[in-house]
Parts: sequence; structure tokens; C-alpha cells
Amino acid sequence: MSEIVTQTSDGVLTITINRPDKKNALTQAMYGAMADALEAAETDAAVRAVLIAGVAGAFTAGNDLQDFLSNPPRGENAPVFRFLRAISSASKPLVAAVTGVAVGVGSTMLLHCDLVYAAESAKFSFPFVNLALVPEAASSLLLPRMVGYHKAAEMILLGEPFDAAAAVASGIANAVCPDESVVATALATARKLAAKPPTSLKLSKQLMKQAKPDVAAQMAAEGVYFSAQLQSDEAREAMTAFFEKRPPKFN
Ligand code: COA
Repeated sequence: MSEIVTQTSDGVLTITINRPDKKNALTQAMYGAMADALEAAETDAAVRAVLIAGVAGAFTAGNDLQDFLSNPPRGENAPVFRFLRAISSASKPLVAAVTGVAVGVGSTMLLHCDLVYAAESAKFSFPFVNLALVPEAASSLLLPRMVGYHKAAEMILLGEPFDAAAAVASGIANAVCPDESVVATALATARKLAAKPPTSLKLSKQLMKQAKPDVAAQMAAEGVYFSAQLQSDEAREAMTAFFEKRPPKFN
């Protein structure tokens, strides 16, 4: 089966990340497929809302670290940047169902979703500093605005995982749901949105998003540091240590 599965019914495009053996870690090819799906949804009148889901135990473990080491993104049209542009500028409502781990971009993409449902098993983290990287997807702008500076500093500078209840308490998820029903809850909500007046929905979302006009500029600024750090000795050490299952050592 494909690692990105798409299906449209009742006005809802469901994008399912499906690479369970690697905890849904995202390769360039997978970002490309998700970018294609989101871009096509913009002009497809049959799509009125989008649901993003993972598999049991993994929404996504974030960027594939092997890809970061051997095939780092190059240029602004790299699939990961196409995906980030598509998700941050989507005009139709985006709903996420988070099961299990949501690491790195697994958590930062949620800041661009309109409604987020977290399974009891969900574990969120922004581990960029621990990987000797910097935040991406405009999370360095959006997270402090959403949760307040001190909470964001805890999440980003310490990079420790937190659970579904903490995600709801801090305002980055809407509700905690049992694992068995989180996708059904998110899908039912996406269907509710799909039945609403589409222009009113689009304009209402646009009005809320316009209050954050600096998202693209922040993403570009993050990208400069992110690319430089990706090439750094400290990032290579952090990622090699992950695959060698040992703590990293930074000088
Ligand atoms: N990139 C590449 N492979 C990854 C991965 C990633 N981001 N996350 C997990 N995997 C792989 C593991 O290497 C392992 O592969 P193997 O079975 O061939 O050894 C498999 O997926 C299962 O992962 P494992 O670590 O055994 O699962 P776990 O349940 O113990 O832990 C995580 C899950 C997500 C907490 C842990 O895998 C992790 O920390 N991954 C890295 C996350 C990360 O740093 N992402 C980048 C953010 S910018």
C-alpha cells in the first residue's frame, strides 16, 4: 500500500500517513505526495474539508532522519517546503486526528490545522534543539502566540514529549478522544465543516489567518538556520546517535 493514502468522500479529503514500520517518518517522496494532495484540494470543488491522520501508534515521527543525513532538502521547491507552503496556505478547513507520536513536523503541522483531535495515546514533541536543529513550519512564531512564551520555550528549548491532556491544556489540540474513536470523531467534524457554506467558511478562515501575516517570512528565516544546522557537525552527531541507539555527545 502507498505510504500516503488519499480518499475523498462526503466532501472530505482524507490524507492518511501510512508507514507504520518507521513510525510514519516522512520522506521527501511522502512530503511530495501530501503537497500534491493539498494543492489539488484547493481547486477540487468536491473537497470541502481535509482530514489528516496517521496509523495506530504514529501520527508521524517527523522527518525521516536518514533522509536528513543522506538527502537533505535543497532549494525552496524541495517537497518538504512545498508541503509546508500548502498546509500553511490551505484555504479549506484542515482537521487532524493524532494517534501516538507526533514528533517535529508531526507537531508543527498541527499549528496550521484548524481543529486537532488527540488520541489518549498521543505524544507531542518539538525535538529540534535536541537534534541540533531549529524550529520549522513557522512554529517559532505560531507556538509562542498560541501557548504563550514560557510554555513555548519549555516545549522548544527542552524538547520533551508531552501528552494529549497537556496539548489540550496548552491550546494546541481541541479535545482528547479514545484511540478507537479519534479518527471517527475527526472525520465527523470534517464532514460537519464540509456541509457548511464554503465561501463563508473560507472567508472566516482567511480572516483568522490574516491576523498572522508574517508566517511565510518566519518560515523563510527558519529555513536559513535550519539548512545551515542540518549541515553541522552537531546535527550529524545527534542523528547518528539516534540510529546507533546511544546518547549524543556535543562538545
Ligand atoms: N526517521 C527515520 N526512522 C525513524 C524515525 C525517523 N524520524 N523515527 C523512527 N524511525 C524508525 C526507527 O529507526 C525504527 O526503525 P528500525 O525498526 O529499522 O530500527 C522504527 O522507526 C521504529 O522506531 P523506534 O524508535 O523503535 O520506536 P519507538 O516507539 O521506541 O520510538 C519515537 C518512537 C518516534 C519516539 C522514536 O523513534 C524517535 O524518537 N524517532 C526520531 C524522531 C525524530 O527525531 N524526528 C525528527 C524530528 S525533526
